[in-house]
Order: sequence, then structure tokens, then C-alpha cells
Amino acid sequence: MFADSPAFNPLAQTPAAAARQFGYNNDYTAWIPFPFGSGASDRGLLVVNHEYPLPHLMFAGLTVDSAATNVTREQVDISMAAVGMTVVEVQRVSGHWRVMIDSRFNRRITAMTRIRISGPAAGHPKLRTSADPEGRWVLGTHDNCNGGVTPWGTVLSGEEGSADFFGGRIAGHPDEAMFKRYYYDETSLTGKFGWPRFHQRFQIEREPNEANRFEWVVEVDPFDPEAPPVKRTALGRFAHEGAHCALAADGRVVVYMGDDWEFEYCYKFVSRDRVDFRNRSANRDLLDTGTLYVARFDASGVLDWLPLVYGQGPLTEQNGFSSQADVLINTRRAADLLGATPMDSPEGYEPNPVTGKVYIALTGGTPREAGQQNAANPRVGNRHGHLIELTPPTFGDKPDHGALRFEWSLFVLCGDPADPAAQARFHPATTREGWFVEPDNIAFDPQGRLWVCSDGPGPKLHDGLWAMDTEGPGRALPRLFYSPPHGAECCSPAFTPDGRTLFLSVQHPGERSASLREVATRWPDFSADMPPRPSVIVITREDSGPIGD
Ligand code: FEO
Ligand code: CA
Ligand code: CA
Ligand code: CA
Repeated sequence: MFADSPAFNPLAQTPAAAARQFGYNNDYTAWIPFPFGSGASDRGLLVVNHEYPLPHLMFAGLTVDSAATNVTREQVDISMAAVGMTVVEVQRVSGHWRVMIDSRFNRRITAMTRIRISGPAAGHPKLRTSADPEGRWVLGTHDNCNGGVTPWGTVLSGEEGSADFFGGRIAGHPDEAMFKRYYYDETSLTGKFGWPRFHQRFQIEREPNEANRFEWVVEVDPFDPEAPPVKRTALGRFAHEGAHCALAADGRVVVYMGDDWEFEYCYKFVSRDRVDFRNRSANRDLLDTGTLYVARFDASGVLDWLPLVYGQGPLTEQNGFSSQADVLINTRRAADLLGATPMDSPEGYEPNPVTGKVYIALTGGTPREAGQQNAANPRVGNRHGHLIELTPPTFGDKPDHGALRFEWSLFVLCGDPADPAAQARFHPATTREGWFVEPDNIAFDPQGRLWVCSDGPGPKLHDGLWAMDTEGPGRALPRLFYSPPHGAECCSPAFTPDGRTLFLSVQHPGERSASLREVATRWPDFSADMPPRPSVIVITREDSGPIGD
């Protein structure tokens, strides 16, 4: 990453080295042309999320079951330096993509980076801690899953959950009900990665509000390496998968966000003010003021966006809300009260830049019992997931993503089309390698073709990346493009504007192995001295035309 970064040596890892190296478990990958607005396809900033550590594969001698209790202080601090985000400049030089080690834009954000809290919940008593009595600055970001790029060239990163990173008893906590609503495990004292053993702020009993400072959307300006990242509380608090932007007909920004957990909801945020396309810095705090909505899918094919606004409907003192900050800190409960539609784990959630229709990938795996189905989540025990298509109304010839009523329909029901029990629904010409299950990240190439990554289909199937059209004769007809190594998922395809280069995250290779001793793959080094390493790969088209044609 930097001229002074040591080369990666698995036997000589230190927190200081990790903070100067590319992070672990890359997930979301954004590619932004450089300079901003240039549309360049040979020079850009790659912005990457690093979701969580895997101590049993990062360090020799640990096993998956004992890592949280046996990990050392130094290993915890290495993990904390290895999560967060990376900004790195990349250029195509003589046909080959290179990391520009000396770029002034290269940057690491870790679990120790100072991050500003802004928006309606900033300073709220539930966001104050002993280290930050004002509730306005937090150390770090973690569990950064997917994200999005704003029209003004900043990157949004979704904090997808924090329960794994904290430890301690929930019983008797003043916000016990809220902690339970955010799926905190009552019994784990070590957290999943051992962090609470060495850092008191991750112990819920000692620092009861620290957890409330996570599960937000973080905004980072990759073009300003000195600017602190900002947690935008107006976008709500939940297991943020991504945060994909579109525009309302009048130029306000719309951010689509899924809460990736079973029976959770689909949201969108609409800013109060319009995007200023001439003055980038005028948009600096655009995401602090606006309205958060949650989706209700009706069986008639109508989708209503319900506003999460303090004082409206049930979001009043009577139900324990005394401000908009209260609504945002406990977004899930506010959405429960509004009667939002419980979904089968919303992950990828993006507008097609060509047609304006919006697609949602539901990974499935939900223990939905008979009687718990709804029109948008029609399968009992949805094991395989599905894709939903949203159609916003048009205003003139443009989709109006700010509208409060959309139409929706089921696009694909995943599973093996040859197995009637799977109740799959793809294009009838789908081949044996063409179908998939558990759709997670989605992306569009510049021509509006939909790319879908799967996550976790189980040991009998492989993960992969598939491409399909959303219109015309090839609608819902996927083709397999890439399959990642053992135990890995591929995430977040990112195309250059010419469609001829594809950056793709390969996350957690070997994850299903219990320890390094018996690891199933040492991809991509394939060396006995190296653990498997999460990596971003680059795929380029050698002959003419864009990738996928
Ligand atoms: Fe980090 Fe929802 O996957
Ligand atoms: Ca995901
Ligand atoms: Ca995953
Ligand atoms: Ca997933």
C-alpha cells in the first residue's frame, strides 16, 4: 500500500504492519475513475471494505472453535488493523493493472481510525461513552459489507452488524429489548473474535453504549485522504448490507439499503436537498438531512414506502420514541411498528443504470414457516433465495426513485430448475451451470446487464458469479462466469466505464476449514508458507467488446 509497508509475512505480523497493508476479507469493491468525473477506464481509485477477521486462518495454532478464547492481544490488534477499509490507486500500465504504491490517495481505515458521527443521532445520550462523552466520535468501523458510490464520488460502506465483535451480558441492560432486537447473543463474553478480552469498549457491561455506535452507514471521501470518515445516522441503524445511490426526478439523492437478516426489511433514504453536480463539496453533508423509508410489499404488486419519521403514526412517546434520533438508533423496532414486510435477508439491492428498475437479492436461508409467507417472500423455509424487481414510476423519461409508490414483481426464484421441490423459476433455457442459489451481491455492467454473486450454497454446490439480461429474450437467463476457490464467495463485481475490466473480491478462501493445519486451499499463493489470502482479482477482456458480450 505504501512505500514503507513491509511485505506480508505470516510469521511476522504486527498491528503496525497490518495497518500499512491491504486489509483482510475484502468484500465491497468500488472502482471510481480518476480524476473524478473523467470516465477514465485506465486509472482509478479502488475502495474496498474488509468485513471481519478469521483468526484461525490468519494465525497458526488457532482453531475455529477456540480462536476467540485463545487469540493473543497482539493477534486481536492485528485483526483490528486488518478490518475496515482500503483506498488504493490503480492504473493500467502497458496493458497490466498495477497498484500505485506511491499514490497520495492510498489509505487504510481500521477499527482504530477516528470516525465522526453526524446526523440526527449524533450526540444522543445512547451514543455517549466514557471515551467520548459527547457522542460524536467513534474509534473505527468493522463488519463493513457492501456499499455504494454517491453521485459526488464518495463511498458509502455498510456496517452489517456488530454483535460478533462485542461480548457481555445483555440481561439487565437498560436497552435489553433493543439489544435482543439487534440479535445480540446473551452468553458470549469473548465475542466471536476475542476483541472484548483486551478492549473494554467491546464489553457491553463496561461500556453499555459502544455497540450503538456501530451498524451505521459510513461515508468516506477517497479523493480527500485527510478527511475523517463519517457515520451518517440519518440512514438508520441495522445490519447494513449495501447503500446504492440513485436520483429522484427532482435531483435529490436516494440510497437503497437492505437489512441483511432473516425477516428484516428493505429501506431507502431520500435526501431533503438536491445533489449539486457542479460543486462536489456542496454535497458534503447531504446525507444528514432527509427521510428514511421502509418497504411494504402488497400482494397486488404495489410497493409503498413508509416514512420513519418521529411523531408520525406509531413513532411517538407512547411507543418510547422521543426524537428522530430514537427512531434511527432503534430503526428495526420503528419499522416493526409501521408494518413493513419481513424479507428473506435482503443483500444486493441496486438500480439498473439503463432501465431504472431496481433489483433486490434475497439470500434466503430464512426459517419461514407455513403461514409466514408473504407475496414478496413466497416460499416456506426459503432455502435458495430469490430476486425481486422494483419499478419506480417515471417522470418525463426518467425513473423517479424518490416516489413513494413503486410496483414490484418476483424476477427469479433460485434453486435447481430440474428439481420440482425447489420451486425454482429461471428462463426455461437455463443450463445446468446456469442456475444458482443464495444470491448475495449484485451489480450492473455499463450496458445494464445484471451480475449476481452467490454466498454459501453449502458443500455440494459451488459459489460463483453469473450474468444475465433483465430485458429482452435473455431476461432471467443466467450464465456462469467465474467460480471462486474452496470456501470463498466472490463479491462485488466492479466494472470500469468501458466494461472491459472487472474487479472482483474473493472473500474468505478456506473459510470452512477448522484451522491452518488442515486448510482446504492456500489460494492464491498455493505455498505451504502462506495461508489462504482474501484478494481482489482483476479480469480483463483481451479481444474486442465489453466483458460478458
Ligand atoms: Fe456481509 Fe450480508 O453479507
Ligand atoms: Ca453480502
Ligand atoms: Ca458473506
Ligand atoms: Ca451473505
